[in-house]
Amino acid sequence: MEESKRNLVDEDAKASLDIWRYAFGIVDMAAAKCAIDLKIPEAIENHPSSQPITLAELCSTISASPTHLLRIMRFLVHQGVFKEVPTEDGLTTGYTNTPLSRRMMITKRDGKSLAPMILFQTSQEMLAPWLRLSSVVSSPDSGSHPPPFDAVHGKDVWGLTEDNPCFGEMINEAMACDARRVVPRVARACHDLFDGVATVVDVGGGNGEAMGILVKEFPWIKGINFDLPHVIEGAQILDGVENVGGNMFDSVPKCDAVFIKWVLHDWGDKDCIKILKNCKEANIGKIFIVESVIKEKKNTKMMEERDKKLEEVRLILDVAMMTHTTTGKERTLKEWDFVINEAGFARYEVRDIDDFHCVIIAYRS
Ligand SMILES: C[S@@+](CC[C@H](N)C(=O)[O-])C[C@H]1O[C@@H](n2cnc3c(N)ncnc32)[C@H](O)[C@@H]1O
Repeated sequence: MEESKRNLVDEDAKASLDIWRYAFGIVDMAAAKCAIDLKIPEAIENHPSSQPITLAELCSTISASPTHLLRIMRFLVHQGVFKEVPTEDGLTTGYTNTPLSRRMMITKRDGKSLAPMILFQTSQEMLAPWLRLSSVVSSPDSGSHPPPFDAVHGKDVWGLTEDNPCFGEMINEAMACDARRVVPRVARACHDLFDGVATVVDVGGGNGEAMGILVKEFPWIKGINFDLPHVIEGAQILDGVENVGGNMFDSVPKCDAVFIKWVLHDWGDKDCIKILKNCKEANIGKIFIVESVIKEKKNTKMMEERDKKLEEVRLILDVAMMTHTTTGKERTLKEWDFVINEAGFARYEVRDIDDFHCVIIAYRS
């Protein structure tokens, strides 16, 4: 068979299997949520002997039905979440954790676990809008339809956090686990830029996790965690951090530098420019923007495997912004250049933190 025909046959054979991912993609999310809800990674980690935990032991530790647990574990082992290995006597097998399953430990606050993010994204509130994605794509840009999240809940995400404190708590925990993962990387990459900076405001700082990490890294800083008043009501009380409630569309507390992570991607260009202008008016010398930068030109064949995966996360987040926010989006560098210039910043630089996020530092002069 000639080369091009063989490629087509191979592609077709692959498609006949790949298509099932689209029919049942939710199974990965649901099984991960199940493992987190039942604290399976913790049960494996805390197993008293150094041996892998057998199915019977796991069943008794988490009080589960053996037949159902066997099937969930079989799936999660197949997906590479857990490992199944022989016990020392070789008579049976047991389960061990992997770096992936350890990231599903809800009890860990180690800068790796994303369990709170998985629980948040698998909540009913976040799942329901996905079914309306086509309505936003087919709606003209002026927005003749309400965005999917608003169509389902009658308000946007921030309105729902005010009305539903459990949902608010879930989003804050989800954001905090990303802050624990990313803020130390930002601190390492930008250490030199915090010299001589006395006050930093974290705009849209949620429960204060990010600012708590920054003041530990840079103890000379006075930190202000700034967010909507109902979010600040539930914020952590942390040494060196003052919690201030307000609206970033009105004004931002005075400071030397602003830190703003995963906030601007929730908003379209007009709102972004307004927020950035308000940050500039807070008298700052610089602003640390922690966000994704989508690659403009890509040749996926030439991209390294890790770069491809990082870009996949950015593109997933972009579609999530379409589903869960009204005008939010992930931006290319050209799009960042536009909003930063329109807000009146003199210059900016981008620092890589070996993550799907990077840091854009925009300077007032
Ligand atoms: C996606 S979360 C990011 C949280 C945090 N910066 C992080 O990355 O961990 C966006 C944050 O913006 C806050 N926010 C939304 N509208 C706001 C407003 N008008 N003024 C101040 N904060 C706002 C939300 O309450 C939320 O905490």
